Amino acid sequence: MPALCPDPTQKGYVRVTFSTNAAAPVELLVCTTCRRGQPTDAQGPRPGAMLYSAIDAAGLPEGVTLRAVECLSNCDEGCSIVLRGGDGRWTYVYGRFDGAEDAGTILDVAARYRETSDGLIPWRERPTHFRKNCIARIPPLAPLVPSFGDF
Ligand code: FES
Repeated sequence: MPALCPDPTQKGYVRVTFSTNAAAPVELLVCTTCRRGQPTDAQGPRPGAMLYSAIDAAGLPEGVTLRAVECLSNCDEGCSIVLRGGDGRWTYVYGRFDGAEDAGTILDVAARYRETSDGLIPWRERPTHFRKNCIARIPPLAPLVPSFGDF
């Protein structure tokens, strides 16, 4: 579904479409080295690693794969994850998770993200943590194709 973005410099709206592929697989990246701002405990697992293990143990939604990564350069705001998938979806970096207890919420959002063709989950469907803790969003790889006019 195309996104409609108001553009005050044009009459009407600017329609931006993407080369979408709703069937494209989704990757959920989890930083396993996040310490959630705590001092390193060499003897114990880090909160990021525990989050990864909890997600892996819970089982992933269809079409979503899990990947462990080391550092997303969001260390002061970890635990951190990324949702990405396909040329047509926005990529999102989320942070400030506590650890394993967030696995269920993350999996719910991953499933919703997978259902979209552009990565845009309606605001009202996003859990509060995802509304308030988006670290970055990155445009789709597919070229944006604006067209002008009244819609
Ligand atoms: S250690 Fe997780 S973002 Fe850097």
